[in-house]
Amino acid sequence: MGLGFVEYPKHVIARVTMQSNCVRTSLTDLLGLEYPIIQAPMAGVSTPQLAAAVSNAGGLGSVALGALTPEAAARALEDTRALTSGPIAANLFVHEPPRVDAELAKAFLAEIAPKFESLGERVPQSVTEIYRSFNDSDEMLDVLLALRPAAVSLHFGAASKRHTRALKQAGILILATATSVAEALALEQTGADCLVMQNYGAGGHSGAFLGPPDEATKGRAGLQKLIGDTAAVVSVPVVAAGGLMTGMDVADAMSVGAAGAQMGTAFIGCPETRASERYRELLASGTPTRLTSKISGRPARALVNELLLWVEDLAAIAPDYPLCYDAVKQLVAATKRDDFSVMWAGEGASRSRFLPARELMDCLVAELNEVGARQR
Ligand SMILES: Cc1cc2nc3c(=O)[nH]c(=O)nc-3n(C[C@H](O)[C@H](O)[C@H](O)COP(=O)(O)O)c2cc1C
Repeated sequence: MGLGFVEYPKHVIARVTMQSNCVRTSLTDLLGLEYPIIQAPMAGVSTPQLAAAVSNAGGLGSVALGALTPEAAARALEDTRALTSGPIAANLFVHEPPRVDAELAKAFLAEIAPKFESLGERVPQSVTEIYRSFNDSDEMLDVLLALRPAAVSLHFGAASKRHTRALKQAGILILATATSVAEALALEQTGADCLVMQNYGAGGHSGAFLGPPDEATKGRAGLQKLIGDTAAVVSVPVVAAGGLMTGMDVADAMSVGAAGAQMGTAFIGCPETRASERYRELLASGTPTRLTSKISGRPARALVNELLLWVEDLAAIAPDYPLCYDAVKQLVAATKRDDFSVMWAGEGASRSRFLPARELMDCLVAELNEVGARQR
């Protein structure tokens, strides 16, 4: 079930050129890609194999480093580099440090304690900042400067001035996620080379950093408005993200000014990911998705599974990200049940295709080119 074929309006045809099988846009020019498709970084789900397959197929593969130590991040980048010589993006989180509110954490832990006790497991006495912001890690910056991915993509805000300067001096491009025109303008000001505009229906964490994610950006119409409004006021390439599952969806976003698409959920079903069988089953069965802050402490969209229904019933206020995530992750690990685990996914989940990444890329490109052929 696609969104139907679209015609590129005149102003976009000027910027989009179909060359034989390649699709040229300001995004492909910036990164040296054959196709304007970015495989979204997906911490815990994407792998070096996935990123390499996408890069080898002419797109931009992303390696999710946000949840890794600098040592593990270096290994992930080296593993990817061993499988492709194409451009890759290294993804990091730039969240504000959490407010450490002992009372809040205590109340949250007290409410989830019975679940640990029923499993015969030790109840955690405290929660920690399991993910360090890239802005606070010179070690992570050193890894990037040593291994030089083509791009760094950032979630939850902007890189610090010092980190931005160092990345730019090393010739590493900066892709940054925004969820509103105000966020896009703020990121452009900090030196972002490309803006990933993520809508309300996107899978995983919302990158919103200047307020809550805006429900009005949900769905195809919401994403189109977000793209159109942003492309009208910024001068860097704008990439669409959220609910895009087919080449027709990508073309649709490009018809309103996107220079390409970043797709996460579309790639979860690939055999190259770490998604469990149960995760794949829920994608295939058309399970709906919902946005909740109760899993990690920040709004994020997940499949409605046993874990999501359970956390939504909690009365306690979630501690700040990633403290809440630490508590929930510990519980998930103790529970050891497939359905009681974090399954991020976007509103296009029910349209998942379960293909090897190379085949999925070929499909996306064929669909995108078919739209181009109709317009010629
Ligand atoms: C399973 C999953 C994990 C994600 N993890 C990350 C991440 O580590 N870093 C990041 O910048 N974005 C992450 N995202 C968000 C994506 O970058 C992107 O915005 C989103 O996938 C787009 O929506 P879609 O899933 O509907 O295609 C994740 C998304 C999913 C589905």
